[in-house]
Amino acid sequence: MKKRPFNQFIAATTLLMAATIFACVTGGPKSAVASPTTDLVAKGKTLTTSFTCAGCHGPDLKGKMGPSLASSGALKKYTKATFERAMNLGIDAMGKPLHPPMPTFHMAKGQADAIYAYLKTI
Ligand code: HEC
Repeated sequence: MKKRPFNQFIAATTLLMAATIFACVTGGPKSAVASPTTDLVAKGKTLTTSFTCAGCHGPDLKGKMGPSLASSGALKKYTKATFERAMNLGIDAMGKPLHPPMPTFHMAKGQADAIYAYLKTI
């Protein structure tokens, strides 16, 4: 009888550890729904709206006054790095200046990467 509270403590601790390990292994309840990639793509899609790309590149970004930005269009010329350069410095994939009205943006690196990831999916 004297040992009982100690045994209860061990049992409770073991249960808590098992629950923690389970939570770590499964990555929590959201892991099956949102992967880092789909998060990035969703963020990129939102950013194309806030930077108004569709105004010139078409509602589906597949070309209007500006060229198509889809993976089969202009995007295939670009790497992640040259895409970011195009956004922030206005230099195209070949190293030539992009012409107005294509704006030069001031994007954070993560923003250009997210847009690039989204454009890869369309
Ligand atoms: C005000 C109109 C306008 C807006 C807004 C705009 N673009 Fe453009 N964009 C253009 C035009 C016009 C060109 C063609 C420029 C050229 O050929 O020199 C272009 C060219 C580009 C190119 C280069 C295409 C190639 O063939 O190399 C990329 C990439 C691009 N735009 C991405 C974007 C993205 C992403 C956004 C939003 C973040 C955006 N643009 C917003 C008008 C716009």
